[in-house]
Amino acid sequence: RDLSCRRVIAAGRGEQAEGEGAMSEGLSPQDLEKRAVGEAAATHVADGMVIGLGTGSTVKFFAEALGARIAGGLKVRALPTSEASIDLAQRYDIPLIDWSVTTSLDLCVDGADEVSPDLSMIKGGGGALLWEKIVASAAAKRIYIADSSKLVARLGAFPLPVEVVRFGHQTTAERLAEHCPDVALRATPDGPFVTDSGHFIYDCRMGAIDDPAALDRALGAIPGVVETGLFVGMVDMLIAVRDGEAATIEGPDGVWWG
Ligand code: 5RP
Repeated sequence: RDLSCRRVIAAGRGEQAEGEGAMSEGLSPQDLEKRAVGEAAATHVADGMVIGLGTGSTVKFFAEALGARIAGGLKVRALPTSEASIDLAQRYDIPLIDWSVTTSLDLCVDGADEVSPDLSMIKGGGGALLWEKIVASAAAKRIYIADSSKLVARLGAFPLPVEVVRFGHQTTAERLAEHCPDVALRATPDGPFVTDSGHFIYDCRMGAIDDPAALDRALGAIPGVVETGLFVGMVDMLIAVRDGEAATIEGPDGVWWG
């Protein structure tokens, strides 16, 4: 049990200990959970490691904690999972490398949008699913970090992101609609959202996903689909919040929700 994490989460509920007020100021209860799991993940980074640096608001807290350890002398190099992840690394002085340096990663740390009791996940809320899956697949160990809102009995309430090539994306969307009742092109105020690889994303409101692996295979077989946000069999370690504490599990046996 990481008591420092527990204290930090408790601080968000107005139970803060002396001296913790400034540290927790301005953070919502959810952000306090994100910080707790991010800080816990940073303790798993060892000297000399090459790590995959995930994307998102939870990973931001991991990067912040890792940056502090690097400032203290830890030697780490990071492969980013998005342009946003590059910005994050630069913000916290985490040295970056690219694939020309190595294709072997010791560890990857990333967030999740939903995690089900069999440790399948939906990712890609931030649109980085393709790079995230490539980086995770190259890592010897994958740690995912999630606040308690991400733990679900069944995947599918969160719209499943599917990255597609722009050419013929309208017909690709029609094929996606054969599997999903509600398919929407992700948009920004300036037009369609474009991924770091120049593709579009369709968000598929599935409602409930009974068999994530089968759905991943079916969607992946559609011409034009580059990658889905279904991450199946990829969690080596999950750090999530249980009863206000950062808790670590290394397989479905340890699951407490669902
Ligand atoms: C980005 C992702 C993120 O990991 C996921 O969306 C979680 O983000 P956050 O930590 O901000 O909730 O998959 O593509």
